[in-house]
Amino acid sequence: TGTVRLAVIPGDGIGPEVTAEALKVLDVVAPAGVTFEQTHYDLGAERYLATGEVLPDSVLGEIRQHDAILLGAVGGKPNDPNLPPGILERGLLLRLRFELDHYVNLRPSRIFPGVTSPLAHPGEVDFVVVREGTEGPYTGNGGALRVGTPAEVATEVSVNTAFGVERVVRDAFARAQRRPRKKLTLVHKTNVLVHAGAVWWRLTQQVAREFPEVTVDYMHVDAAMIFLTTDPARFDVIVTDNLFGDIVTDLAAAITGGIGLAASGNVNPDRTAPSMFEPVHGSAPDIAGQQKADPTAAILSASLLLDHLGHPQAAAVIEAAVIADLAERAGSRPTAEVGDAIAARVGG
Ligand code: NAD
Ligand code: IPM
Ligand code: MN
Repeated sequence: TGTVRLAVIPGDGIGPEVTAEALKVLDVVAPAGVTFEQTHYDLGAERYLATGEVLPDSVLGEIRQHDAILLGAVGGKPNDPNLPPGILERGLLLRLRFELDHYVNLRPSRIFPGVTSPLAHPGEVDFVVVREGTEGPYTGNGGALRVGTPAEVATEVSVNTAFGVERVVRDAFARAQRRPRKKLTLVHKTNVLVHAGAVWWRLTQQVAREFPEVTVDYMHVDAAMIFLTTDPARFDVIVTDNLFGDIVTDLAAAITGGIGLAASGNVNPDRTAPSMFEPVHGSAPDIAGQQKADPTAAILSASLLLDHLGHPQAAAVIEAAVIADLAERAGSRPTAEVGDAIAARVGG
């Protein structure tokens, strides 16, 4: 009970459209005695193009004072000459994940009843990807030499610290331990990325000793693509690095009914800073402003947010409303209609 201070970053493209629906649903689910005090931040492409600001330190400082962050999506049209690639992705989204120590990027995948998978026989799919969120090739540790010449060399170095790997692996084991099947699959590429692979492999074996009930499996990331397509039901908890996790979770979204349904949490398990909840998808410039975006991923992200803040019942009410809505979906509806339908189920 009390007041939840929520920082809202609708962002770019379909971000504002889907965030509006998530807020609509949060409004009607407000758990007994809890009120949301929202602060909206106009961070994103428009602000950058108008002012050159991506994430001023003062704004980051304010965001830090909140209990949680709800984000839509950031990023402009690919190859917009005014918006160099990475400015918003690195400067806003990744900076938030790094500065707020979101080392667990939680991305659940389930095929909800009535939802069609592009796979003919997917089976009972219900797994969660625990994607490392603060290291790997995402740290910006790289550079370019002799740019534009035939002798150009570009590198992005993958950073894997024992500290960073151990903490995310332990979190993944703890989640596996709480799930009925208690199975953890490390996904990596230890046959080629031998240095990083050794750290992930060794720390997984080491942390496994703390969780004797959890079955541990290992799969190279390329083979994981095979099994995610041919037998996704075999997975329970997947733990993997930042870049593999990015790729794996778009495939996971595709096989479980589409990117419009995939929710995520950028979680700081130590609660030293607010966690951030957002759809797995991006700003979808191809459908922005047309009420074509599915807000379900954003709404399910709001459910993950409530769960993280210690309101599992309110979270479950939203999830149940989404499941009921999905089961009855026929054809596509405008973004706001999906939000209205789910909000009506939550409120009624
Ligand atoms: P995207 O996820 O934005 O779009 C991929 C495809 O999925 C598009 O065809 C799009 O229309 C569709 N799609 C996405 N969300 C949908 C939804 N809710 N309902 C229906 N269809 C949906 O990925 P992209 O095209 O590679 O990237 C576009 C921009 O978004 C880029 O600038 C990229 O950097 C950025 N991006 C941001 C985030 C984020 O903010 N977390 C995530 C991914 C990409
Ligand atoms: C995601 C996105 C981001 C990522 C980009 C936009 C930085 O693709 O959240 O999956 O790679 O993590
Ligand atoms: Mn991605």
